[in-house]
Amino acid sequence: MDSIIVTGGGPLSGTIPIAGAKNACLTLMPATLLSDEPLTLTNAPRLSDIRTMSQLLGSLGAEVSSLSDGLVLAMSSHDLNGERADYDIVRKMRASILVLGPLLARQGRAVVSLPGGCAIGARPVDLHLKALEAMGAELELRDGYVHAKAPSGGLHGGIVDFPFVSVGATENALMAATLARGTTVLKNAAQEPEIVDLVHCLQAMGAQISGEGTDTIEIQGVDRLHGATHRVVTDRIELGTYMLAPLVAGGEVTLGGGRRNLLDAFCTKIEEAGAEVTESDAGLTVKRANGPMQAVDVETQPFPGFPTDLQAQMMALLCTAQGTSVLEEKIFENRFMHAPELIRMGAEIDVHGGHATVTGVDKLKGAPVMATDLRASVSLILAGLAAQGETRVGRVYHLDRGYEHVVAKLRGVGANIERIKEDG
Ligand code: UD1
Repeated sequence: MDSIIVTGGGPLSGTIPIAGAKNACLTLMPATLLSDEPLTLTNAPRLSDIRTMSQLLGSLGAEVSSLSDGLVLAMSSHDLNGERADYDIVRKMRASILVLGPLLARQGRAVVSLPGGCAIGARPVDLHLKALEAMGAELELRDGYVHAKAPSGGLHGGIVDFPFVSVGATENALMAATLARGTTVLKNAAQEPEIVDLVHCLQAMGAQISGEGTDTIEIQGVDRLHGATHRVVTDRIELGTYMLAPLVAGGEVTLGGGRRNLLDAFCTKIEEAGAEVTESDAGLTVKRANGPMQAVDVETQPFPGFPTDLQAQMMALLCTAQGTSVLEEKIFENRFMHAPELIRMGAEIDVHGGHATVTGVDKLKGAPVMATDLRASVSLILAGLAAQGETRVGRVYHLDRGYEHVVAKLRGVGANIERIKEDG
């Protein structure tokens, strides 16, 4: 099993290119199941989660070819031969549930294992199922699988009023509704840039959708969708993660392709903590405005609020900011697993329920630490960038799910970081 070794050091400088969004790509890929014509995605990220989704689509009879060193995914679902998404693949990645809506809409049947994924809370799929039920689907939970069947005339339009915002349930409902008879209205829908990106792709395939990027999305079902080529939106979580690097370690870094409107609440928060963020044609450039970073309070919220997927990384920054910060996690109940690892590096953190109080210390100290989930693992790397001595991050496979070429990208701006193969 590989480890990453980071040795804290001097300021960073240069440019980090930001990849296409993992979370957008993972919902764009199942959209291929909606059409018998090819769907091509450009600007795809090179990640193990994308390979897992390719494998899942392949098991359903879709063809997925990875071209141009993985940047282009050419997909065709001309001859689907399956309706069953097996536990063996689904357990690796929660986003696998996103094949449910498209399979049901296209084939009228789907059998999908209940998902696994990052261990950051209970993460049920009840909202996905309620949305599909509103379109007439008959659902049964049996042997760890969702067995779904459309009515004889296919899914019909419906009104779905989500009790709280769910990104995945909005995506599943959106995709299913594109081929349902009549109009579907999604109320309290997610507004994330990845949802808007999915809608743009579905529109390019011929879907009739309006209201994306607001909390009410209306879909007018069509008989069929056709092929399209779509460019995956920039990964705002990778962007935010690397924006924190020069704030933790010092220096000035440009994030190639970054746009402020992907991360406005995050940008405002780091500015409050003492960052200077400048937008240009090249992307976003970040440095400390003057002097050390200051404590700030953070509350995670659905978009356009502060993203839960940047909470762990923000905590790594606040560990050495001046003063006491309170982080409140409002999306996932068990998302502070990075805190004990940061404490091993000398951080002062007190976790109590959905809150973490972080009191800034002068310096963190390198230590062997263990990645527990995707975003937690990169927070430990960020912490290591400014720590005294060597930080060894184990269980790097979490990182490979969501960050391409992390070592090369950070070395490119002067970080002292390497990946090593561990014995055994
Ligand atoms: C997506 C992202 C993930 C991000 C999250 C919140 C992907 C592949 N993953 O996950 O990185 O952290 O959005 O921005 O895009 N919930 C229910 N029932 C449901 C569905 C969700 O109770 O049927 C709860 C979840 O447990 C969680 C909250 O709703 O507490 C939000 O989850 P959701 O927005 O659905 O997250 P995902 O789509 O799984």
